[in-house]
Amino acid sequence: TAEDGSRAWLRYAPVPQADNYRSHPSSIIALNSTKSSPVYTAGQELQHGIKGIFGKQLGINGTSNSRPAIIVGTVDAYRKAYGNFDEADGLEEDGFFLSTEGDNVVIVGQNERGALYGAFDYLSRLAQAKFSTVSYVSNPHAPIRWVNQWDNMDGSIERGYAGPSIFFQNGFVVTNTTRVAEYARLLASIRINGIVINNVNANVTLLSSRNMDGLGRLADAMRPYGVQLGISLNFASPQTFGGLSTFDPLDPAVDAWWANITDQIYTRVPDMAGYLVKANSEGQPGPLTYNRTLADGANMFARATKPHGGIVMFRAFVYDNHINETNWKNDRANAAVDFFKDLDGKFDDNVVVQIKYGPIDFQVREPASPLFSTLRKTNTAIELQVTQEYLGQQCHLVYLAPLWKEILEFDMKADDRPSKVKDIISGERFSRPIGGFAAVVNVGTNATWLGSHLAMSNLYAYGIMAWDPAAQSEEVLGSWIRLTFGFNRDVMDTITDMSMKSWPAYENYSGNLGIQTLTDILYTHFGPNPASQDGNGWGQWTRADSFSIGMDRTVKNGTGNAGQYSPAVAQVYENINTTPDNLLLWFHHVNYTQRLKSGKTAIQHFYDAHYEGAATAQTFVKQWESLQGKIDAERYEHVLFRQTYQAGHSLVWRDSINQFYYNLSQIPDEAKRVGNH
Ligand code: GCU
Repeated sequence: TAEDGSRAWLRYAPVPQADNYRSHPSSIIALNSTKSSPVYTAGQELQHGIKGIFGKQLGINGTSNSRPAIIVGTVDAYRKAYGNFDEADGLEEDGFFLSTEGDNVVIVGQNERGALYGAFDYLSRLAQAKFSTVSYVSNPHAPIRWVNQWDNMDGSIERGYAGPSIFFQNGFVVTNTTRVAEYARLLASIRINGIVINNVNANVTLLSSRNMDGLGRLADAMRPYGVQLGISLNFASPQTFGGLSTFDPLDPAVDAWWANITDQIYTRVPDMAGYLVKANSEGQPGPLTYNRTLADGANMFARATKPHGGIVMFRAFVYDNHINETNWKNDRANAAVDFFKDLDGKFDDNVVVQIKYGPIDFQVREPASPLFSTLRKTNTAIELQVTQEYLGQQCHLVYLAPLWKEILEFDMKADDRPSKVKDIISGERFSRPIGGFAAVVNVGTNATWLGSHLAMSNLYAYGIMAWDPAAQSEEVLGSWIRLTFGFNRDVMDTITDMSMKSWPAYENYSGNLGIQTLTDILYTHFGPNPASQDGNGWGQWTRADSFSIGMDRTVKNGTGNAGQYSPAVAQVYENINTTPDNLLLWFHHVNYTQRLKSGKTAIQHFYDAHYEGAATAQTFVKQWESLQGKIDAERYEHVLFRQTYQAGHSLVWRDSINQFYYNLSQIPDEAKRVGNH
């Protein structure tokens, strides 16, 4: 139902065989919880969840008398009430211990937030009818686990596909924060601890005193869930908003202006997480205007937030969007490393460089950004996208965990040592104090949050993987399905099968062999438009002509991009024989008749892949239809509509792309489907 959509994976629906779970406790003890603290929330959540799952109303006490109980609290509170607690030794910040071994269920967090995560974890187990006895410590892979919203002050959302903003309306922060608190609850349940609420293309009016008061309100609404608020800043604010004559980061007046604004914000939001800054990118102002470095720019914000314990997420998405395609050596993919390599070690300790997973822009297939192994003395975070900007905008089912996993597990081989992306961004590989994850999510006021029920698996998986990147995509998906749709075996198998096939299918019909998503890159980023890739300064080029296609990114003959990787990785991409087929056209410019490792020519692979991908999308409709009656009618119809759309749109994709390359190359399809036969 619509309500199910809003509750997402927190439905707490009754579970089968609940009677087997006889020993469940008779009360909840929330230790030292003051109203609207995360431990207080944990108590409420446990009460609410157990009521839903077992139909049993438990009382909540602040003390340790009634037993057996579910005890939830921080390490400190637990020790105070019960004495020793050895398990705490293994706990890291935000981590928790959960045990169902004794009479009591014990949930102990390293901090309040950890206690809440433990409560959600326990409830997630119950809601999935996982009743076996457990006892374990769970710690986060990285301290920064944030989401970014690209919400504008007028309530619109850049690249948002689920209606207007839940944070802003008509230029101001909303007054009713109910939905904001609900979002924070969802985020806390997947262990997200920070949220940047406004667009990276930031509007200065966020800094008006009325809106700063509003920030206080939003932070208050999210604090009970341990979700800290952050904001995006516009680099030119001192001039355009503050009335100074300059926004030069090395001008003391500018520095003082930011320090003052920052103090004002922290007065309203004492626990603000920090700032996110997009500078000198896509027309945004930045330090380069004054011949200052990007590090000079980032450090200015770092100085302002440091006394308050805040951090600065500084985006690596800096590139020139007016590059000239006639120069064979020009390459947007080189930009991040070019801009940042000489700045390594020059960023303050509370700056984190936030790097999009690939060198271009959230494409259906990209290699990991070479910047991950370039920065060794700088904190880094990976930026992922839950909102499916280039990936069907929630009108296509594309389960993204497998894509993210490929990047996170990719070994950058820095100094010939194991250097997985996930271990770089956590801070482990290069011994950095902080680092982690950000994902652009862009939920809106739509009852489904993202505009599509099935797209919520991506938000769920993001949180779970930011906590534990070793989690398996299919397993995470399974939990999400059970929590979202219940226990029917067919529902589980069908949605699993569709989801796991969805990324490969989308890649097949939207842009294979590493050519990028062949969408309309100039405006909508939706639907096929291969012609829009080339002939402009955006640098998402394919260099397709009548004979050949692909970007030559080799050092030998191309843009040199392959050489931005460590030698062991560079060597793989430099050589066409060792480059994996799925990145062939990312790194090499080849004739359409180039043979792939499969033995097919590149062009025949194009034709076949597009037929294959679209055929898979057709089967999603039939698969979904087989679930009629096994899912409530409302969600069934909603998803059916989307799958029908995807099936049709995948044919449009298939035929436009195939016809486009047939027209260019005039090479007939061996199976005689494409062209004029
Ligand atoms: C993409 C996206 C923009 C966004 C930009 C960014 O290019 O289309 O809307 O502003 O990324 O990440 O900054």
